[in-house]
Amino acid sequence: MAEASSGKTNGASAGTVNIGGNAYKVVDHEYDVVVVGAGGSGLRATFGMAAKGLKTACVTKVFPTRSHTVAAQGGIAASLGNMGPDDWRWHMYDTVKGSDWLGDQDAIEYMCREAVPAVIELEHYGVPFSRTPEGKIYQRPFGGMTTEYGKGIAHRACAAADRTGHAMLHTLYQQSLKNNAEFFVEYYALDLIMDEGVCRGVMAWNLDDGTIHRFRAHKTVLATGGYGRAYFSCTSAHTCTGDGGAMVLRAGLPTQDMEFVQFHPTGIYGAGCLITEGVRGEGGYVTNASGERFMERYAPSAKDLASRDVVSRSMTIEIREGRGCGPNKDYIELHIEHLDPKLIHERLPGIAETARIFAGVDVTRQPIPILPTCHYNMGGIPTNHHCEVLTVKDGDPNYVVPGLMAIGEAACVSVHGANRLGTNSLLDLVVFGRSAANRALELVTPGEPHKRLAHAGEEAIARFDRLRHASGGTGTAQLRTNMQRAMQNDCAVFRTQQSLDEGCNNLEKVIGGRSDIRVKDRSLIWNSDLMETLEFENLILLAQATIRSAANRKESRGAHAREDYPERDDKEWLKHTVIWVDDSGKTRIDYRPVKLQPMSNDVQSFPPKARVY
Ligand code: FUM
Repeated sequence: MAEASSGKTNGASAGTVNIGGNAYKVVDHEYDVVVVGAGGSGLRATFGMAAKGLKTACVTKVFPTRSHTVAAQGGIAASLGNMGPDDWRWHMYDTVKGSDWLGDQDAIEYMCREAVPAVIELEHYGVPFSRTPEGKIYQRPFGGMTTEYGKGIAHRACAAADRTGHAMLHTLYQQSLKNNAEFFVEYYALDLIMDEGVCRGVMAWNLDDGTIHRFRAHKTVLATGGYGRAYFSCTSAHTCTGDGGAMVLRAGLPTQDMEFVQFHPTGIYGAGCLITEGVRGEGGYVTNASGERFMERYAPSAKDLASRDVVSRSMTIEIREGRGCGPNKDYIELHIEHLDPKLIHERLPGIAETARIFAGVDVTRQPIPILPTCHYNMGGIPTNHHCEVLTVKDGDPNYVVPGLMAIGEAACVSVHGANRLGTNSLLDLVVFGRSAANRALELVTPGEPHKRLAHAGEEAIARFDRLRHASGGTGTAQLRTNMQRAMQNDCAVFRTQQSLDEGCNNLEKVIGGRSDIRVKDRSLIWNSDLMETLEFENLILLAQATIRSAANRKESRGAHAREDYPERDDKEWLKHTVIWVDDSGKTRIDYRPVKLQPMSNDVQSFPPKARVY
């Protein structure tokens, strides 16, 4: 039972909440809007709102410029046409096709049209893009980028060498500082404050001094990134633990299309670090043990620049059939030794360094050993293109959850459908970060008073307290490893009912093991044991949503490759999976229709077509 008392400190009111004899100092804040997460989408939303007069807080568990956007390498897609013909309609077609027709075409039209002004805006904000000899933004080809609806190769990825995410993140943070956004850095978001189906803010733990913070807001925007760390090998930062998605599930709301997990073909063997697809855009290629450029067999037209799901599956087949490289025949090789070292120095300096450090390879002389590695979650919190969170309620598949928004990899708009094209994620971040800001500006009146709530957020503190004092016999790291191995072994590039059922059983054991979890450190300040436990609690819910959705979808589409159902089945499965997971791991599945109609009459709808690579 919780008891509360209150007072005032530093302008924000502060009080104490007692849970089971443990006192927690709780600091209250009131904002118009709170953004959770300070990666590309979170920062774009934050300064968009702050600049136009909304009192905006950005709550982030890492320093903004350490957010995972910093790791994005190859570029941001926009049909600028700086290095050959291009058109936003071709971009839209490629994105719809890449999504294996599961993407919502209204949102895809919005993103591809907005790409051009969004990148020009970034240029004006100061992103140091690489340049053509005439001084235009440099653009390279990436997998799945075509001209004239599949006929030629488009140069559409606007690049800052191979550190595009780094360049963007720093610029967006500078813009946020310029616009006086308020940051709460190294605050860990615990749970949403929900009141009769309306989101009223978010609870957070200040890692630095141990206080608990109750942020009230008229709009809470989740920009918490993906959950790659549910897998054993991934390109994602250790911080990518799906905190927003899990908060949504705990609030009794669903996630969407969680079965679609992208494996990037070129993760460094053993380490998982990303080697950008831009390498192949610059002329790199992959080979098997006999030096064969095997992509010519699998994708005769697009070859090494086929979309990621195709390249990842082809590599996996080569390894399975005994044509992998090395003593254990368990990796593929990526070559750029034939490229001019000057070009590597100018356009791919980051991956040359990464390959040297993590694979011990000099890329000007040796191939890089690579393996498909978990890279991106197409699924997430369902939203419309205004970034408002949706649920299925009373027969309405597009019911807007008041007060709650989601953007970036945490969200599922859905512009990526069953498979995302490379460089559409940086684009997604800025286009929908800006869209969220615009929507909040339309709907929130600055300074609007907040509804008074009794005991707001105390359930979140009780959950925090329970985990802080967990005294079972199993360490969090053990449970986390078991979860990661189950996901890696049973729910990766290829899936069968047998592998998925085994994975579900293995995950059930992990879920059951949570009752025996042990947190050794009971302190409140920089308690990484407790924080990792909270993160694990988030990951396990999302892992469960993923594997249960995958076991349910009996077809192959995009990144979801079922060996027992190898065909795409538009009759049965042209629909979004919507899944609820309760705290005990129990799931419920429903569906939302795919939007096949674009937003305007400026472009035709693209009906599903057979796959040709
Ligand atoms: O390969 C890459 O540079 C990754 C880009 C992306 O995932 O968008």
